[in-house]
Amino acid sequence: MKKQIVWILVGGMGLLLFLSFNLGRTADKVFPEEIGAILKSSCYDCHTTGAKSKDALKAVQFDLWDDYRVTKKIGLLGEICEMVEEGKMPPKKYLEHKPDRKMTEAQKKQLCDWTRKESERLMQAN
Ligand code: HEC
Repeated sequence: MKKQIVWILVGGMGLLLFLSFNLGRTADKVFPEEIGAILKSSCYDCHTTGAKSKDALKAVQFDLWDDYRVTKKIGLLGEICEMVEEGKMPPKKYLEHKPDRKMTEAQKKQLCDWTRKESERLMQAN
């Protein structure tokens, strides 16, 4: 009986380790939770591996964010905020089909605040 409990515990810990390692590699850990959620709902359809638009993928691929160089990240952070504030991203046509992907003013502000903070952090770290 005791042995079984030990095995269950060991198995559980192994599973947890496995899960945390794998989760650590997904976008959820690359971006703060609320930023990741915004990007997922409004941007991922076009800007992640597997999306159809080559132009969008060339511009930015959020699932590869962690692999980008710091200079590229800083440049993109500025553009992300600009695009969103000017209402260019997500594209209007897309929103006509998927109005639920429209960003609220609060989300735009949240995303832009983060892009500024994140660029500052990256500049200081390098
Ligand atoms: C319907 C598909 C689609 C969605 C959704 C979308 N984009 Fe894009 N995005 C594109 C395409 C296509 C391009 C490249 C052509 C262009 O610049 O218009 C692009 C380009 C960009 C660029 C580069 C602009 C430049 O001047 O080089 C940025 C930054 C960007 N998108 C950010 C975002 C962000 C942030 C979101 C979510 C808030 C988003 N996009 C949502 C299709 C999309």
